[in-house]
Formats: sequence, C-alpha cells, structure tokens
Amino acid sequence: MDWGMQNRLSRIIKPRTGHTVMLAVDHGYFLGPTRKLESPRETIKPLLPHADALMLTRGVLRSSVDPGANTPVVLRVSGGTSIIGENLANEGITTSMEEALRLNVSAVALSIFVGTPYEKQTLMNLSELVNQGEEHGIPVLAVTAVGKELGKRDARYLGLCCRIASELGAHIVKTYYCDGFDKIVESTPSPIVIAGGPKLKTELDAFKMTYDAIQAGAVGVDMGRNIWQHDYPIAMIKGVRSVVHKKHTPKEAHDVFKKEKAKVDKRKPKKKK
Ligand code: R5P
Repeated sequence: MDWGMQNRLSRIIKPRTGHTVMLAVDHGYFLGPTRKLESPRETIKPLLPHADALMLTRGVLRSSVDPGANTPVVLRVSGGTSIIGENLANEGITTSMEEALRLNVSAVALSIFVGTPYEKQTLMNLSELVNQGEEHGIPVLAVTAVGKELGKRDARYLGLCCRIASELGAHIVKTYYCDGFDKIVESTPSPIVIAGGPKLKTELDAFKMTYDAIQAGAVGVDMGRNIWQHDYPIAMIKGVRSVVHKKHTPKEAHDVFKKEKAKVDKRKPKKKK
C-alpha cells in the first residue's frame, strides 16, 4: 500500500490500539436538521477532542468546524436524495476528489445500496471512487446502507454487502451490528466499523452493542445518534472509547459514563426549591 494511503488510514484507525471511534455527523445530507444536530457546530465542538475521526459533508465541514482542528476528516461524498424523496438509494457522487484533497481529508465515504434498483449505480460509484482514491492515496469508506428498511440488518444481507464492498476495493467498510456479526467480519477482508443506528433505549445497550462488535472483530465504530442525541454526549463517547480502545466491558464503560455524567451534573446550577 502506498505511503500516503497508509498514513491516512493510520490517522483514522489508531496504530496504538488498531481501533477507532469515528463520530458520524453526516445525517443532514438526506435527513435535514436531525434532532440534536440542528446546529452542527454546537453538537460537534465539545465532542471533537474525543473523536478519532469526524464523518461529515463538505458543507458542514466548511461552515461548522474550525480549520485549526486536528481531527481527521472522513468526507461523505455521496448523496442527492432526501428522506421525503422517491428513493434514498438513487445516490450519486456529490463531491470531487480534488475537493477532498483541497479539504485535506483522511478518507472519503459513500453509501452502497445492494439489492435495490440502484445497486449497479451505487456499486459503480464505489468502484470509480476507489479508482480515484488509489490514484491520490485517499482511502474509501463504503457504507452498506439500508435506507428506510432497517429490518434488512441481518448477517446474510449485510455479509453480502460487506464482501462486495471489499471486493470492489473499499479500504474500510461500515455496516450495522447484527446476530452472527463474526461471520460478516470473517468473510470481509477490509476492516469493519459499525454504525450505531437509531438511538437505543439505554446507554448500556449502546455499550453492549459496541462491545459485541469489537469482540466479533470490528475495528471500531462510526457512531452518531447514540452519542449526540443522548443528554450526556461526552459521557457517551467516553464510554464508547473505553470499550473500543481499552477493551472495557459494557459495565466498565457504564462506570466511565456515570463518572463523567456526575461531573456534568455537579457543574449544573442547582434548581431553587
Ligand atoms: C450513514 O450512512 C449515516 O449517514 C450515518 O453516518 C450512520 O448511520 C452513522 O450514524 P448513526 O450511528 O447515527 O447510525
């Protein structure tokens, strides 16, 4: 692998642990002003020091992230659809490789929609992006998107998507955690990160999902809503980090969470009786 490509990958997947906690804040590209991401700068700023990489679009990067920030960027370069439009799978490439280079990103990301009428289109998007990425030393992260069909998140389907993404040259594959996840990892030569998906009931559920994914061989998470839709986002990301980088159990991560939460509560002004 070329030096530039390796260097960029190691900015994202930390060589010290071989793992990564990416913070996903790209949801607006098809969801619009998602709850608690209405003002991206406010959501991102306090979390930035705790993220190994930031996944977002160029619009939010330019408008809402200080260029002095040293957090590696994974730039979402696919889109062109919306949650109220005809078909979420009908994505194109929205951002050029030259723009990605200008923004000094560490990787580019796109979604693939296997099993939809836009399967070929999105797989060709991935192939073309890998061609360009190889030319410029920019890794490509492929997201095995399920659109509105969250029920599609099973090992047979996701295993198929991940393997295809890997065969077409994706340097990192992002998918969902599911039962039989170890089989997906086994049959996908590229490193895998998991998305968090919609916010789970409790923080412990999120730590457990992260733990199970890491145990099964994921290199980390690219998590959004389970972190920033929580009332204690910093406590959440710290808990997740402890599982990913320190091999903490869900209970140990929950202790990290509670400690951080207590610090925040202590700083809150007391309500008058
Ligand atoms: C993926 O394609 C989305 O744009 C998000 O980046 C992804 O779903 C991760 O965020 P969350 O953990 O909220 O699912």
